[in-house]
Amino acid sequence: MSENKEKMITVYIMGKAYEVPFGLTIMKAMEYAGYRFIRGSGCRAGFCGACATVYRNKGEYKFQTALACQATAEDGMYLAQLPFVPANRKEYDIAMINPEKNVLSEYYPEINRCVSCNTCTKSCPQELDVMYYIQAAIRGDYGEVSKLSFDCIQCGLCAARCPAEITHYHVAQLARRIYGKYHLQIPEHLLKRIEDIDAGKFDNEIGKLKKMGMKELKEEYTSRTIEKIQRGEVTQ
Ligand code: FES
Repeated sequence: MSENKEKMITVYIMGKAYEVPFGLTIMKAMEYAGYRFIRGSGCRAGFCGACATVYRNKGEYKFQTALACQATAEDGMYLAQLPFVPANRKEYDIAMINPEKNVLSEYYPEINRCVSCNTCTKSCPQELDVMYYIQAAIRGDYGEVSKLSFDCIQCGLCAARCPAEITHYHVAQLARRIYGKYHLQIPEHLLKRIEDIDAGKFDNEIGKLKKMGMKELKEEYTSRTIEKIQRGEVTQ
């Protein structure tokens, strides 16, 4: 067996076996096998939540969830991509909401059916305390829901697995909107920045960016200090 051959693994995509190189993410393994992502892929970096996926490991009874762009494909995995989680989201006008009441229970009464099974928390690829924030939502604690759900990327895996059919991530989004609009103090630095924008302080820089071609724009983007820190080229 060649060295290359030893590095191949077998995964099952929609029930069909494929040999793919070891070490790829689930998303790349599926692409290597010929699967084309038209939906269900975005940032490819664990931020956008578009690539919710379900799988089962060889010989295991457990049904697992992950982000396809982050989890590594393992030998014998059975893979299936979730194109979209069809979770209900309520329509509302945030300006018409009474922030003194617990409107989370009103808009999403199913949160009161939570059986505390913790499946939502276990399915969250961001490792958020989803069940805890649903408990906070039942109490109408907008601040706690906002704090606990702050890193939610809206992938929908919590809702896909919930036996009580709660749409956790939509509940949390409403809580953050209410908290941001009615409870948080308006940050002074933000007001100052808006003032500066309105006064045309950044017009020159924005004008320059607008004239750049794609290559130049990419260079400008990747030469920012924050990018260099992330690449380990400079220290903070
Ligand atoms: S593609 Fe954006 S989180 Fe995976």
